[in-house]
Amino acid sequence: MSVISVVGTKGGVGKSTFSMGLAISLAKLFPKNWVLLVDGDMHIRSVELKMCPDYDVTLAQVLEGKPLEEAIYLSQLESEGEPLYPNLAVLPAGGRFLPVIRGDFLSFIEETKRKFDQIIKKLRKRFEYIVIDTPASMSFEHLILTAVADGLIFVAEPNDDSVEATINTARGLKEFMDVRPVGTVLNKVPRGVDVREWGKKLSAVAPLLGIIPEDPLVGDAFRKNMPVLALYPRTVASKAIQEIATKVARLSIKPSKVPEKIERALQKTAELLSKGEES
Ligand SMILES: Nc1ncnc2c1ncn2[C@@H]1O[C@H](COP(=O)(O)OP(=O)(O)O)[C@@H](O)[C@H]1O
Ligand SMILES: [Mg+2]
Repeated sequence: MSVISVVGTKGGVGKSTFSMGLAISLAKLFPKNWVLLVDGDMHIRSVELKMCPDYDVTLAQVLEGKPLEEAIYLSQLESEGEPLYPNLAVLPAGGRFLPVIRGDFLSFIEETKRKFDQIIKKLRKRFEYIVIDTPASMSFEHLILTAVADGLIFVAEPNDDSVEATINTARGLKEFMDVRPVGTVLNKVPRGVDVREWGKKLSAVAPLLGIIPEDPLVGDAFRKNMPVLALYPRTVASKAIQEIATKVARLSIKPSKVPEKIERALQKTAELLSKGEES
């Protein structure tokens, strides 16, 4: 049972496309188990992409006391009236799910640690894989969704900026929170472009699990409000994502201890924030 967070260092690299594709592929690979996609990025558009019905209960309400079950929705994608992915569920996190910090910071940390530890423990019992699409912005929410992971998969684009940012972010997250990269992915690779140099650099972070070609049908599916894997399962990008998922399924990802990582993440961010205020 693994919790995998998908991380990108900026918006638009294809985090949501890959997260959805990975969750769908894992659900197909493990038909007897349940897979959960946590929508931590409002831009994943899980409702519009028909991954999920119109929802009212999200992680924010669960943290305020609503039962966790009420925030877990069955994937609504259908083909000819039949559910396409009967073992795939979605948990919408929303953009701002943490309460505003009132009172002292230490009790906020304690409370957040306790709640997330409970949530993840419950989810682990029910799901074989939990794939988390993390938000693009740097916030406490982003850090929590990164900290709860057993392993991180980094999505980068084939250019120096994206690859360098990935290397730095991976190093930082490992140092600050002890969350480990388990794989890297190069997305939107144009035909005929030699990506060996970038692939080599990413391999130093974690194994390069695969290369997803730039594929006009990804954008086409996006405009038609469907995940590319659901609409065009045989297009090059879908095939690449499915191949990456088979590699993910073979990784041995050690379960991690959530409370310690959350504590570190929140402490470190608070330190950074207060340093920012001083300077
Ligand atoms: N392999 C690809 N080929 C072509 N377009 C892509 C590919 N991956 C993503 N896109 C497009 O890039 C845009 C951003 O993708 P998205 O998955 O929403 O990124 P992120 O979640 O990182 O912001 C979308 O319009 C999507 O259709
Ligand atoms: Mg996104």
